[in-house]
Amino acid sequence: MNKKQTLQLRKQYIGPSLSLSYQEPLKIVRGFMQYLYDEKGKKYLDARNNVPHIGHCHPKVNKTAHQQMCVLNTNTRYLHDNLVLYAQRLCDKMPEPLKVCYIVNSGSEANDLALRLAWTYTKEKDVIVVDHAYHGNLSSLIHISPYKFDGKGGTGAPPYVHKVPIPDGYRGKFKYRNSQAGQKYASQIKDVLRGLKNNGKGLAAFISESIMGCAGQIVFPENYLMHAYQYVRETGGICIADEVQVGFGRMGSHFWGFETQNVVPDIVSLGKPIGNGFPLAAVVTRPEIAHSFDNGMEYFNTFGGNPVSCAVGLAVLDVIEEEGLMENARTTGAYLKDKLEQLQNKYPVIGDVRGKGLFLGIELVSDQRKLTPAAKLTAQIVEKMKEEGILIGADGPFQNVLKIKPPLVFNKDNADLFVSKLEKILEDLTNSVD
Ligand SMILES: Cc1ncc(COP(=O)(O)O)c(C=O)c1O
Repeated sequence: MNKKQTLQLRKQYIGPSLSLSYQEPLKIVRGFMQYLYDEKGKKYLDARNNVPHIGHCHPKVNKTAHQQMCVLNTNTRYLHDNLVLYAQRLCDKMPEPLKVCYIVNSGSEANDLALRLAWTYTKEKDVIVVDHAYHGNLSSLIHISPYKFDGKGGTGAPPYVHKVPIPDGYRGKFKYRNSQAGQKYASQIKDVLRGLKNNGKGLAAFISESIMGCAGQIVFPENYLMHAYQYVRETGGICIADEVQVGFGRMGSHFWGFETQNVVPDIVSLGKPIGNGFPLAAVVTRPEIAHSFDNGMEYFNTFGGNPVSCAVGLAVLDVIEEEGLMENARTTGAYLKDKLEQLQNKYPVIGDVRGKGLFLGIELVSDQRKLTPAAKLTAQIVEKMKEEGILIGADGPFQNVLKIKPPLVFNKDNADLFVSKLEKILEDLTNSVD
């Protein structure tokens, strides 16, 4: 079919609440490693997609899935080595005491289960979330995702959900230069906890990413999660780390995002990169929490933990190690960030360059002092980068943050190309300092 026909059928048969990227939508027909190809054979450098973590269509993953698919794919009510070996391997990657696994099919399923575990274990209902966070597409998760319930079509927070401000050192109340910013932002959680106590309520959970994605690649100030977790635990609540975006070595310095904040969560939810595009996700928790959930009501998940998805999960972990992808995230990420910071010195419209490893953000502002968001320019840059053969995303509360989160096989030549194209576009659309 030509592109027009595909678009027509999509409009006819696919629910209209699903959007398409770009003014002129892309029809992507093939992918390999960090590259995507459209129907005419045009090649794009994929700098926006963290799901194909080890590269689009990685041969090892494809071969593994195919081989297992030819032998057996069934549910977890039979013994199978793949399930237990994969759970063991995932738990080996986690710090003590996170040693019990549930394997599910999507980040949303993982977060929904994380909530159920928290509700059952604490016997409380209330949840604290960070403003503008997104945790998934199920009803339970729209309720704890300000990105959705405060966005278009949203109906606000339900009474049991409490928002705290984004701990944003660039735009928030406490800036990067404030060495106490982490503790100060965390004390806003304390205020919520005090309010709950005054109303005779306890807390079930505090859920947060370790670097925020939809909120605009927000790196928390030092010690934010450490203090936050301390306050939450003092009231009997539990701490959920949503690692759906940032886990599996993307940070470069650490395998998990929460490790960059020196904390150990009570529950970790995993998704996106875990299966390199295959529907796979997981929850890892402490034995006591898992035991409290074993209250007579079975947790069965038809596809979760099947032999094929566990084989895929194992292959992804192998490739991250064999190909040194976490190290590549560290070195290539630092190289790219440094180049972007050099651009920042030249183009006043770049207000902030932030992120860790290969999870970076560029915040664009039309006034450096007032931090006026340059949303229109951000959208123009996304379109122009696409014309130049590079795919990036934009997000944040003001839609003025360029998001960079490529497959971890992204290399220094890719980084050079990215920066040279971005510079050319900035030169055309704005004025440089010199
Ligand atoms: C932080 C975070 N958590 C959870 C999810 C939900 O994952 P899924 O779309 O696989 O259900 C997403 C998806 O974008 C996410 O960004």
